[in-house]
Amino acid sequence: MSLRDKHVLLIISGGIAAYKTAIIASTLRKQGAQVKCVMTKHATEFITPLTLREISGNPVAVSMFADVPEFHVEHIALAEWAHVVLVAPATANIIGKAANGVADDMATTVLMATTAPVMVCPAMNTNMWNNKIVQRNVQILKDCGYTIMQPDSGVLACGTVGAGRLPAPERIIEALEYVADERKELCGQKVIVTAGGTREALDPVRYIGNHSSGRMGFAIARAAAKCGADVTLVAAPTDLVTPFKVNRVDVMTTGEMKEAVDRLYDDANIVIKAAAVADYRPAVRAQQKIKKNDDKLTLNLVKNDDILFSLGQRKGNRILVGFAAETTDVIKYGKGKVAKKNLDMLVANDITAEGAGFKGTTNIGAFIYPDGTVEEQPLMSKDELAERIIDRVIDIYNKKNL
Ligand code: PMT
Repeated sequence: MSLRDKHVLLIISGGIAAYKTAIIASTLRKQGAQVKCVMTKHATEFITPLTLREISGNPVAVSMFADVPEFHVEHIALAEWAHVVLVAPATANIIGKAANGVADDMATTVLMATTAPVMVCPAMNTNMWNNKIVQRNVQILKDCGYTIMQPDSGVLACGTVGAGRLPAPERIIEALEYVADERKELCGQKVIVTAGGTREALDPVRYIGNHSSGRMGFAIARAAAKCGADVTLVAAPTDLVTPFKVNRVDVMTTGEMKEAVDRLYDDANIVIKAAAVADYRPAVRAQQKIKKNDDKLTLNLVKNDDILFSLGQRKGNRILVGFAAETTDVIKYGKGKVAKKNLDMLVANDITAEGAGFKGTTNIGAFIYPDGTVEEQPLMSKDELAERIIDRVIDIYNKKNL
């Protein structure tokens, strides 16, 4: 999914973060989108229309009554041209006007006239953001179908520390892709995705773990959310940023992952277990650092519960998808896991293959189904593989609900 060939109308209102719209416009164009900008008069105090005209490659509209020959009735032409509208930064003022039907300049008039999906990125002082009137107006916009991207927290231009910062341009663009291309196939479905490698502490310093980066699971969570699912990502430790519209529960150990998944399972319709789960944990976790006094150290390990197996035992009408990281006899072991864990589909990875498995941004998988069918997937990015997995899950869902 990308914004290639999409018409993005960027509405810029008067906040200090307006300067970041130059990066947003430039990145969108590099991705192959067409960009047109509309600015409020106050926005022009923070960044010039000339800058945005050069970056977007299009005239910038500020006034309702300027003579721009390209458009007949300019606000309507712009509103109709847009495939998707991004309001960034959105000040309390433009949010208030949009929520209350005020259209007194080019920006608010175009916003009112468009039927394209709209994403609003509020950015303002923390107290303004927390103001009940602003929050009420934000809720009105949500109720009207606008997507609101929550502002980031941090040090603001006014010196305050708190919520109100415009998120980084790449996160805004990722979120805009959802809004522009929103699919609905999994609307109303509650999806649990697990990601990353669980860790079992030996002592306060060391742990038993594996090489999972969480990339595969995060890509699946992102792909499911893009299809409208209500996604909860149960994540073992990773530095990855939570995908847009995904809820996240952080866990450390296999026991914590089981607890989190079990808690969510009653309400879930689909579970996809991409996590690499520690099968064993130390029988005793040393309270102090284990000293290297002896030549040998013998660890006593006990088996962890198999989370996926236990979900399969009480599966009901849910869809269960497992993964298998194998080094030999990938398909044979994969088929065994489909049967043993009562799965609707399993993604088997031969982690010895170049470009497959842990850490990297690519993977090679084989989809294995309960009837023994195998669909080999060539090398591709984890994002692409995730989208294929979600497409198959949608097929399974549709067959089950015919
Ligand atoms: O995170 P990345 O760096 O992107 O790497 C992706 C990946 C290689 C981790 C991923 O593609 C993958 O293969 N994940 C599953 C790895 C694994 O633990 O396989 P397994 O064969 O040990 O487990 C089979 C299935 O049972 C898995 O869905 C696993 O989540 C689940 N399981 C395993 C053990 C256990 N105690 N509880 C479980 O639920």
